[in-house]
Amino acid sequence: MKKEILRLKREKNAVILAHHYQSLAVKEVADFVGDSLELSKIASKVDESRILLCGVHFMAETAKILAPQKRVFLPNKEAGCPMADMVTAERLAEMKIQYPEAVVVTYVNSSAEVKAISDICCTSSNAVKIVNSIDAKQILFVPDQNLGQYVQSLCPDKEIVLWRGFCPTHHRVTAQEVDARMAEFSGAVLFAHPECRPEVLSRADFIGSTAQIITACEESGAMEIVIGTEQGVVDTLRLKHPEKTFHLLDEAMVCKNMKKTTLEDIYYTLSEDRGEIFVDETVSKNAYGAIHRMMERS
Ligand code: 13P
Ligand code: SF4
Repeated sequence: MKKEILRLKREKNAVILAHHYQSLAVKEVADFVGDSLELSKIASKVDESRILLCGVHFMAETAKILAPQKRVFLPNKEAGCPMADMVTAERLAEMKIQYPEAVVVTYVNSSAEVKAISDICCTSSNAVKIVNSIDAKQILFVPDQNLGQYVQSLCPDKEIVLWRGFCPTHHRVTAQEVDARMAEFSGAVLFAHPECRPEVLSRADFIGSTAQIITACEESGAMEIVIGTEQGVVDTLRLKHPEKTFHLLDEAMVCKNMKKTTLEDIYYTLSEDRGEIFVDETVSKNAYGAIHRMMERS
């Protein structure tokens, strides 16, 4: 299957981009593996005429918005992001009327329609920088309440109005569970993603995006690290750094949607052109503005 995928990839002039949460088998056939910001940047620069985005729907949609002249594919069309579905353009439009002075900062984990009526996007790796770059006091932060609260803790001069969305994979972990897990591995440090609850983040030794967590693990002198994000990051770390010990904060931190993509999906996407992503032209143009403003500042 891997050999066939590599052959088809060349034949179809395709590039495979995979998020860190994908399975090891998928990451093995990918040309680039990264966090959501890195994948967006790569998608906007690649030479190939086709992009296979192995991740969830908003990632492929973002790639299509950034590279509208390319054919972009999501190998498994069922792979969505439940947090992105927690905000619709209709509900955001209503909220904007309630907060007319607020600048709308939208996490990339959102639909193109929501991005299209936002002022600027952010990812978990640049959210603090983006909010600090805004020349307004009130920010409407959409849709992740935990990332929004984390940004608020580092930007005390801003007044951040939170949307009540969350990531089911990260939000499920409670402070008691963290305390129990850390007690199991006394001496270990905790590196966590800002989609975790504030009481989890307050116990963390490092907070960052998936790529930032991987880099921090590589640069840290710590030999035993508990990882507070999705299981795919632990897979990568164990493979790249067998000299260190990595534990998943909670064995249930597995994103079902990220794990939907299989090698078979990639094969059929390449051979049968399945799962192509299309975005309405006007929506795409407006969403591009919000994404591009983020890219310029990060
Ligand atoms: P990153 O921006 O860290 O890649 O995170 C994306 C995501 O979906 C986290 O749940
Ligand atoms: Fe969405 Fe959470 Fe899965 Fe990331 S881990 S894709 S935020 S459900």
